[in-house]
Amino acid sequence: MRFVARERDKDTPFLVHIVAAGRDIVLSFADQSAAEDVGKMRRDFVANVSHELRTPLTALLGFIETLGGAARDDAAARARFLGIMAHEAERMTRLVDDLLSLSRVEEDERVRPRELVDLCGLLASVIKGLEPQAAAADVTVRLDLAQEMLRVPGDAGQLTQVFANLIENGIKYGGSGKVLIVALHEPTNHLRLRGQGVQISVTDKGDGIAAHHIARLTERFYRVDTHRSREVGGTGLGLAIVKHIINRHRGHLLIESELGQGTRVSVFLPVEMVS
Ligand SMILES: Nc1ncnc2c1ncn2[C@@H]1O[C@H](COP(=O)(O)OP(=O)(O)OP(=O)(O)O)[C@@H](O)[C@H]1O
Ligand SMILES: [Mg+2]
Repeated sequence: MRFVARERDKDTPFLVHIVAAGRDIVLSFADQSAAEDVGKMRRDFVANVSHELRTPLTALLGFIETLGGAARDDAAARARFLGIMAHEAERMTRLVDDLLSLSRVEEDERVRPRELVDLCGLLASVIKGLEPQAAAADVTVRLDLAQEMLRVPGDAGQLTQVFANLIENGIKYGGSGKVLIVALHEPTNHLRLRGQGVQISVTDKGDGIAAHHIARLTERFYRVDTHRSREVGGTGLGLAIVKHIINRHRGHLLIESELGQGTRVSVFLPVEMVS
């Protein structure tokens, strides 16, 4: 049986069991709030995914119709529309890739990575991979290493994903014509990690993020400016994936930002292997 306790503006659902115990009856109330919250999150997620997929799909269907009718014999329009269609299809592909990646990351979140990863090499190769994007946005990416060699326990593929997203965000939202600094700091004792840890920070001189958005950035699909993110090809899943990967590494993510000044996103990773 379901029972809802009403307290001012808050409802708390309970599942009620009635059991006979000799001459007495025992009523047990199990709070269902957490289970219902999970259900609501799942529904919101499905609604978000559907919406994100529908937007490019609607555009594609519209162009297909136009190409089959009005623009059938217009070579210039055809070329332009095909370009937009390719762009929309790429967006859908990226969204599906991110969704798959998110579910894979969630799946193995409880298993700590066991290999040792060369962080300096990894950061250099991520930056190299993003060179074309940085050049197109007129952003100079600088790598500052406090030491030449540092190996930390980690999953190389996942850490690549983390830094690729943070550096890409810095390029996309950090403002063109500016310098983006990726820094690997000297390992020190970090309270949050309860031991030796290393901080890797990505600092841009962009517009910054208002304080009330910061705590929500790691939510799935959360974007400060949906329109602008869409324009630069963002799905808003990047930081959600980053957060899960860092949790798996028992690390910590810190986003600091000031409007008009820029943003610094730091990842703290434990440097010692736990036996
Ligand atoms: N360095 C930054 N400066 C300003 N805003 C940022 C910065 N990094 C992230 N954001 C904001 O946080 C939002 C969420 O970032 P996230 O990486 O999750 O999504 P995205 O980059 O839009 O999409 P995706 O990473 O899936 O391509 C962005 O849409 C942007 O509004
Ligand atoms: Mg991103």
